[in-house]
Amino acid sequence: MKALITAGGHGTRLRPITYTQNKHLIPIANKIMLQYAIDYVKEAGIREIGIIINANDNSIQNVFGNGENLGVEITYIHQDKPLGLAHVVKISQSFIGDENFIFYLGDNILVGGVKPFINDFNEMNSNCHLVLSQVSDPNRFGVAEVIKNRIISIEEKPKSPKSDLAVTGIYIYDSNIFEAVNKIAPSKRGELEISDAHQYLIENDFDITYSEITGWWKDTGQPSDLLDANRLVLDNIQGDNNGSIRNSSVKGEVSIGTNCQIENSNINGPMIIGNNSIIKDSVIGPYSSIGEECKIISSNIEYSIIMDGCNISNISRNIKSSLLGKNVKISSSKDSNQGRYLLGDQSNIEL
Ligand code: G1P
Repeated sequence: MKALITAGGHGTRLRPITYTQNKHLIPIANKIMLQYAIDYVKEAGIREIGIIINANDNSIQNVFGNGENLGVEITYIHQDKPLGLAHVVKISQSFIGDENFIFYLGDNILVGGVKPFINDFNEMNSNCHLVLSQVSDPNRFGVAEVIKNRIISIEEKPKSPKSDLAVTGIYIYDSNIFEAVNKIAPSKRGELEISDAHQYLIENDFDITYSEITGWWKDTGQPSDLLDANRLVLDNIQGDNNGSIRNSSVKGEVSIGTNCQIENSNINGPMIIGNNSIIKDSVIGPYSSIGEECKIISSNIEYSIIMDGCNISNISRNIKSSLLGKNVKISSSKDSNQGRYLLGDQSNIEL
């Protein structure tokens, strides 16, 4: 079995962060989002991975290279235009060949990996195996209508969903999917929709089976999803301390990187702090990920993702539910009556 993982798109709902980095490189609990997908398929015994990237985006390749260091073999497949997920499958046919494969949307994060679903697919011996999850907002997703344990229809982002079962971004196929992606026509928004390919399989009597995720799954489309995913991963983190802690309290599971200095602070797990970060006179956590080389002085941070190289000092109000890109600086103004801001396009601050 091979794997196809998406890492393209424009991440428009995550601007301004995605102006400067591919969404799939955003860290969740200090681990790059795409790394979760790679680890999950590797854990399922898959070595050959195709990663779909936007034309001219070398950032993913710069991080993962040919996969050698991770014990996998990565082939990069360029998608010239965002023509839909079924188009992604279509242009990957020569990479996949005749093999079965898992198609994994690189912005989906879940607990427990993908091995159980691959096992289900192998046992059920179907043409297409989908992974469903109950959601409260099905109109954001592909939605499956299920009667007596059979999927009888699938619709992409329906206005009136027929169920609350979202089709997650984890699909397992045999090569019949190529017939489907080659037969369907573009949708109104001009894309080849993966849901239409699934509907084609249903209408043409192919065997579609499914598993339901009972645990946690998230499609990380917007900032609140990233913070939620961060919480989920941190909930399963194990504490370890490789730094120095002075005159501070550390409660719960907290992972502290090498050369970190924590002084006169309260650290409330679950939390992760990257290498070489300094925290002084502050209260941090729970559910926060602090990147590497950060400096946090006299400030309070909760439920946030703070990426590498941030510098936060003397902020009297709590920083909560926040997402800070790399090297962001927040400090208190010298004049207590006025603030000074240097914000990039589409920055978002709530004071
Ligand atoms: C895509 C698919 C949708 C699926 C979702 C899962 O939507 O088109 O069917 O439910 O991924 O993450 P997108 O997130 O690209 O809007």
